[in-house]
Formats: sequence, structure tokens, C-alpha cells
Amino acid sequence: MDNYKQLLLANKAWVLEKLQIRPDYFERHAQDQTPNYMWIGCADSRVPAEDITGTEPGELFVHRNVANLVVHTDFNVLSVLQYAVDVLEVKHIIVCGHYGCGGVKNAMTNRDFGLINKWLRNIKDVYRVYHRELEAIGNEQLRFDRLVELNVSEQVQNLAQTSIIQKAWKKRKGPTIHGWVYDLKTGYVKEHAEMNSQSALDPIYRFDFDGPRSITPPTT
Ligand code: CO
Repeated sequence: MDNYKQLLLANKAWVLEKLQIRPDYFERHAQDQTPNYMWIGCADSRVPAEDITGTEPGELFVHRNVANLVVHTDFNVLSVLQYAVDVLEVKHIIVCGHYGCGGVKNAMTNRDFGLINKWLRNIKDVYRVYHRELEAIGNEQLRFDRLVELNVSEQVQNLAQTSIIQKAWKKRKGPTIHGWVYDLKTGYVKEHAEMNSQSALDPIYRFDFDGPRSITPPTT
């Protein structure tokens, strides 16, 4: 589809289709949103969150970026996360990666891609942590697939390491965080990781919300 007007025509057809099923379809959605799920997915055009999960407008609160990363200094993902967790009080957060992810594949190379090098660097860091496991895999395709899976698991950890999630776990024992991988070739999703308020967290990343907040001054 190279004619963008096709999209506007499709929009009109979609509106009519929804109104036929339910005349108040749009009025109902315009009131408010109460999604139970937050989705963090890849920007890849072949991984449409709602289609994959059979969800309707109003059910998924979506954030997408290259290679579905949760970067602890990225105000974009953190803002979406805070709103989803504190205001919408979602029950589940799904990080969904996918095999054949261009972001992950490019991060495995030594090529210079310009600005996006800085984003892909986060995936290179995942590679470094698991380099022994990855380099023991002789087949390049299987190594690539494994890094896609490890990247998802790391993003689940990255979420758990935020004060946003830890505060919510303390307050309401939720949300549960899921790491999924979508297979472009079959359409199926596989579960790879899960963390909840009972999960073990590396102690260095654990916040003590009741302790003193001031930073200790250096002693000389
Ligand atoms: Co991707």
C-alpha cells in the first residue's frame, strides 16, 4: 500500500463496521480508559500489539520503541510506565520482543548506524552480560534468537529495578511483569520471563522507601 489515502478510506470503513456492531462503540470509548494491561513492544510494523493479543481499543496501554527497551534514563518509557502503574493501575505489564528484530540484529554487529548507536548500546550491554552463553551457541541464527529472548528478560528486570514498580509492589502487590517473544513466522507468542512482588531482586537495585533519603556526604 503506497497510497496514503488508502489509510483514510480504510478508516471510514472501520468506523462503519464498528458502528454496525455497536452504535455507541465510539461514545463508550470516549468516556474513559481502564486498561488492565500495559504493552511495551518493538516499533517493528510486523508486531501489532492489539492484533496479536485479540484486544480491542481500551484494553492495552501501549508503548513501543526500537527493540522494546526499558532504559532507566528514558523519560518517555518512564512517563508511560508511571501513568500506567500509578494512575491506570494496570494489573499486568507485558514486554514483548520478537524474533527477527532488526534492532537486536544490528546491535550484534560492529557497524556504525549513527544516532541509533546510542539506543542499540543498551542491547550490546545485554550481550556483554550473557556473552559466554551467547558465544557458546555456534549457529548464528540461534544466537540471534537467544539474544532476543535474553533482551526481553533483561527488560523485565529493568522494570523491576524502577522505583515506580517497587513502590507499586509495596502498595498493592501488583502489577505482574511478563516477558514474551513473538514469532513472526508462526504468529505465536512464547512466555519467557515473569516477575511479581514476591520475586527476588538483586539487592543493589532494591529501594528502601522508609529509610533516610539524604545522600551521605563524602568524608575526607
Ligand atoms: Co524489533
